[in-house]
Amino acid sequence: MCGIVGFTGKRKAAPILLDGLSKLEYRGYDSAGIAVRDGSADAEVIKTKGRLSNLYNKTNGGESVNGFCGVGHTRWATHGEPSENNAHPHYSDDMNVIGVHNGIIESYQEIKDKLIRRGYLFHTQTDTEVLIKYIDYYYKKYKMGPIDAIAKTMVRIRGSYAVAVMFKDYPGEIYVARKDSPMILGIKDGESYIASDVPAILKYTRNVYYIGNMEMARLSGGEISFFNLDGEKIEKELTEIKWDAEAAEKGGYEHFMIKEIHEQPKAVKDTINSTIIDGKIDLTSVGLTEELIQSIDMIHIVACGSAYHVGVAAQYVIEDIARIRVRVELASEFRYRRPLLNKNDLVVVISQSGETADTLAALREAKSQNIHTLAMVNVVGSSIAREADNVFYTLAGPEIAVATTKAYSAQLVSCYLLAIQMAKVRGKVDDKKYKQLISSIEQLPWQIEKTLDNTERIQWFAAKFANAKDIFFIGRGVDYAISLEGSLKMKEISYVHSEAYAAGELKHGTISLIEEGTLVISVLTQSELYEKMVSNMVEVKSRGAYLMGLTSFGHYDIEDTVDFTVYVPNTDEHFAASLAVIPLQLMGYYMSLARGLDVDKPRNLAKSVTVE
Ligand code: F6R
Repeated sequence: MCGIVGFTGKRKAAPILLDGLSKLEYRGYDSAGIAVRDGSADAEVIKTKGRLSNLYNKTNGGESVNGFCGVGHTRWATHGEPSENNAHPHYSDDMNVIGVHNGIIESYQEIKDKLIRRGYLFHTQTDTEVLIKYIDYYYKKYKMGPIDAIAKTMVRIRGSYAVAVMFKDYPGEIYVARKDSPMILGIKDGESYIASDVPAILKYTRNVYYIGNMEMARLSGGEISFFNLDGEKIEKELTEIKWDAEAAEKGGYEHFMIKEIHEQPKAVKDTINSTIIDGKIDLTSVGLTEELIQSIDMIHIVACGSAYHVGVAAQYVIEDIARIRVRVELASEFRYRRPLLNKNDLVVVISQSGETADTLAALREAKSQNIHTLAMVNVVGSSIAREADNVFYTLAGPEIAVATTKAYSAQLVSCYLLAIQMAKVRGKVDDKKYKQLISSIEQLPWQIEKTLDNTERIQWFAAKFANAKDIFFIGRGVDYAISLEGSLKMKEISYVHSEAYAAGELKHGTISLIEEGTLVISVLTQSELYEKMVSNMVEVKSRGAYLMGLTSFGHYDIEDTVDFTVYVPNTDEHFAASLAVIPLQLMGYYMSLARGLDVDKPRNLAKSVTVE
């Protein structure tokens, strides 16, 4: 949430800042701003409300702003409404300190009161203005330089932050600090970069440093030094980003979301190839030993949003294949309910960004109880990846659209691989079954590809229901997990109210909402539950529902019951979610398109939720 960028080097900073912000707009798009310094002159600050294009137009793509050092921000409002005034950068009244911030300063009110007593004035409703003026306060009080002022501020504030500031007395330099909010620092050819996420700087450099929690750094052209809270220099290793720069561009597609939907065969294939070696699953890179797998009593899967839905599907799959007890939980609930964990439990946190605040807090809760943790993460070097005991990297590449698709699919297949390997190590499957399961997994990429061929019919159907008021998704078992994800995709980008229900639960209340013409999307890929599903579908149909059936090839008798059918290829039924989710992602996408909405940047949302 909120994107920050920074640049200091030999070229004009503003166009580079705007370009970086355009890659981070998925993190927030209420308002945007930049501050650029030309030598030792005061910084020029330009801000606009609304989309980044407004800032782009106001600065002629950055060309009208001189200077080689600057910071920029695209905002997802927390404290204070979206407005030009509340947009970042914020600065002290004498322009001594200017900065941008991502995160939340929880103690901002008490600091603000203290600063007001010391004569500071405040002109915005943001916590960031408080943070910047607090740094200014310590800078002037102790006169020991930027690192000292920032460190003194860091030890006195509560909250999360990735902050980048420029000091009047230090032209050409940017100072940064972070706690629980993402930030990477890039370097190349005498120039230095700051960004909340990799895509913002991928075009300029692949050489990055990860700044740790409660650490600071000083950037000048081509030089980056790191400091701990005591102001002592610390050494960092440069990491090379392997992501393909093309992957962060739209590449001819109208939206990132549809591009990412079509990238799913590759995301799933790459993830599979990273762990299946010579026909066998090899979790060496994950670091999960056979001994550890043998010792697991219970698995707790903890995540948010779509990643949580992956957990719901994984719960069915792991329990059924590996016969290990699994509990899946929302991270925002887990972290505050004082969870009872046993020493042989395994906590698995799933997160695309690796920065989701609640998931990170859940991971820390598990670690504080000395429980072994495994993170399933897409972004290399993210906070969750760094703090977990083991990491299973999904290889989906950069995901830009706010609504996740390819990362979800890569997470799903990673969970299947875990389930199969656990089953093998614990003797729950014989060699024959093991091979069959792996073979089914290996077919998934082309089967997803085949499912994507069905696009036109779904586009037509989505347009037909573009004015729907309510949509219900129903399913049982794994199909319930798919329904949860289908419903979230629908509501988050098309703003049509939808609910996902375990099909057998509908008649315990929700069925009263079914009216003549209400669209009910029924998922039925599980043969053991097929007839039960058909009964539930008939129940809603007899109350006027318009029925869509989503099932696998061969179940053609479903045509007698439903009004519209979508078929997906047959796979081992444990893995059906990977195929059945595709038409539902397309439904959400085309519904949003038919309603004329901004698919990649749905209102009120942002990718990477770094506030709780
Ligand atoms: C929905 C979506 C969100 C994320 C959730 C967790 O399309 O993208 O629900 O799944 O915010 O994010 P990560 O996976 O980054 O922890």
